[in-house]
Amino acid sequence: MFVVLFLYVSNVFSFAHGIAYDSFNGTPISKDEVAQHIRDNNTFWCMIDIAPCDPNEWRRLDGSCNNLRNPIRGATHTPTSRILPPSYDENYEPRKSKTGKLPLVRKLRTSLLSEGQAPDQLFSVLASYYLIFIATDISNLHDTVNYIMWKPHCCSPKGKDDPKCAPLEVPHDDPVHRYSGIRCLNLTKPLTFQDFGCRQENTPPERIQTATPLFDMSTVYGNSLDKALEGRKFEGGLLKYEVEEGRVWPPRDPDELICTMNRKPKESRCHKTPSDEVNTLITINMMSVWFWRLHNHIANRLAKLNPCWDDDQLFYTARDINIAIEMHIFLYELLPLMAGYENLIRDGLIVYNGFRDIYNEAIIPQMAMEFPLALRWAHTMQEGTLKMYNPHGDYVKKVPLVELTIRTGYLGVDNNVDYLTQGAFRQPSAKVGDNLVDPDMADRVLGYIQPSQDVFSNDLAKNRLMFMQPYIKYLEHFYGKKITSFKDLAEFFEPEVLEKLSDIYDSVEDIDLLAAMWVEKPIPGGHVPRIFYSILAEQLLRTMKSDRHWYERPNRPHAFTFAQLQEIRKMTVARFMCDVGDTVTEIQPRAFQRIGPGNELVSCGLIPDMDISAWKDNSCRKSRDFHQPSY
Ligand SMILES: *[C@@H]1O[C@H](CO)[C@@H](O)[C@H](O)[C@H]1NC(C)=O
Ligand SMILES: *[C@@H]1O[C@H](CO)[C@@H](O)[C@H](O)[C@H]1NC(C)=O
Repeated sequence: MFVVLFLYVSNVFSFAHGIAYDSFNGTPISKDEVAQHIRDNNTFWCMIDIAPCDPNEWRRLDGSCNNLRNPIRGATHTPTSRILPPSYDENYEPRKSKTGKLPLVRKLRTSLLSEGQAPDQLFSVLASYYLIFIATDISNLHDTVNYIMWKPHCCSPKGKDDPKCAPLEVPHDDPVHRYSGIRCLNLTKPLTFQDFGCRQENTPPERIQTATPLFDMSTVYGNSLDKALEGRKFEGGLLKYEVEEGRVWPPRDPDELICTMNRKPKESRCHKTPSDEVNTLITINMMSVWFWRLHNHIANRLAKLNPCWDDDQLFYTARDINIAIEMHIFLYELLPLMAGYENLIRDGLIVYNGFRDIYNEAIIPQMAMEFPLALRWAHTMQEGTLKMYNPHGDYVKKVPLVELTIRTGYLGVDNNVDYLTQGAFRQPSAKVGDNLVDPDMADRVLGYIQPSQDVFSNDLAKNRLMFMQPYIKYLEHFYGKKITSFKDLAEFFEPEVLEKLSDIYDSVEDIDLLAAMWVEKPIPGGHVPRIFYSILAEQLLRTMKSDRHWYERPNRPHAFTFAQLQEIRKMTVARFMCDVGDTVTEIQPRAFQRIGPGNELVSCGLIPDMDISAWKDNSCRKSRDFHQPSY
């Protein structure tokens, strides 16, 4: 994540690709405006330079040209959408309470969510790994970089004068910090187009995101063209890789730029990949390594099958399959488990089989601000202690998750990556919906990087700093319910929770969206809060409608054939782990669920696989005599 800073500083403008667009407005800009951005030193954030679109090309590495009428929508640094319009106070400050002040976020967090640990009876930790990976595809961590690196002074007197600081006050009677003496937690406001001079100061703040808004596995392939090219081997369609002690890794960054928590000299591994996020949280790190390997696994199989394919065709086909698998496992395996199969069928989020095409060019590829915020709810199921097992399932040791951030080196020593991989499907996740949160996630979060952080308070603060409307407005939007008193909320909360809410909030209109989500009743037939489900459903449908390259579309460039799509649909997270997980030779067939009766470990040979021969290109046979494959 520190590379973001580095890029910003060393940004050298090159008008390399073709047409320059204003990243916020999405319109082409003149040479004069380009010159102004160069003078203002903000080309990296405020403009996007792309080659003209070709309607028949693959999904672009930088996400541009997805929507042919709005070519840069879908690329990095483009504006987000919203399910409901923002609600500001004066001067674009977060909204206030009807009666004065909203409760402190830390107070709300400690009142609504207690610290403790309980194992979930259904989910393995792999489920939370996967959710975080999905979230990282469409959002990013640069707000964390901001308060650690760019503005470390938010809790000091200097922070009082910095309009970008938004430190969290810790109340004197805080259950934890009444003993620690900590009265302030560092935090900054989300970065906006205004911060980089892309928009006038006195306009409504618009969040700027480095991630691309569509699911395109940015974490593996990057989200800019230049970076993406750095990841490619340009041979056999492969991503660059290296082998060390029999394990396949992304290439090594000799400077260990991001992995500053590596314990030297023992730990030295750090990945050099197109994405800055890979070396950050350990869960993102492992998932990214796995999908990195899966790309090469697919490319190798395709190369064997179709010896006449060149590097580009192998690369783009493997990437297309890889992204399809990412989405398929999320939509058809993880979501039904969390949100209920019947709900998803009813709302059209999943289809029985065959193609689906709901593309609508009028819908711009954008991510609603509410979506990554809702995914933050999943922090409540984050297990803070990772248990490590050997391939026989014997417990080996444990490690606090928060001590593995920006510390890729840990994976590379003592067989740790093997043990963590085994733990991913053997360890239960933290219990879902029990109003308990892991103490490390509640008071540490960044390990040794910061004395104390509370991820839940940060999430709730961001809810406010992103100007979300009150929870009850979302109830009105999704269910047509007009709420005027706490009593009206009886169907959404257990009585004791509702009592707590009415205790701590002065008015029912004050209830924050995320705070409600933490303690809401689950959706009938599922395990996630109702409002979480509704936000996910609305955005995912928007994504499917706005993504011209959506993998289930028959009418897209290089679309899957029906037979190929059926092979994608055979993929499971268990197969994925068998293909790319270190030392995985047996696994439970439904690996987002714990091992148990009906879901016993079986040999990987018994886990169904996709049949790559669906991608057989018969034209290769004719040309075989003329072509010497180099692999
Ligand atoms: C551009 O921005 C960087 C980082 O803020 C700064 O170091 C550099 O001096 C700036 N260059 C110009 C020409 O303003
Ligand atoms: C806030 O950040 C500063 C600078 O990094 C640090 O000294 C301080 O301890 C941090 N506060 C907490 C509570 O982590």
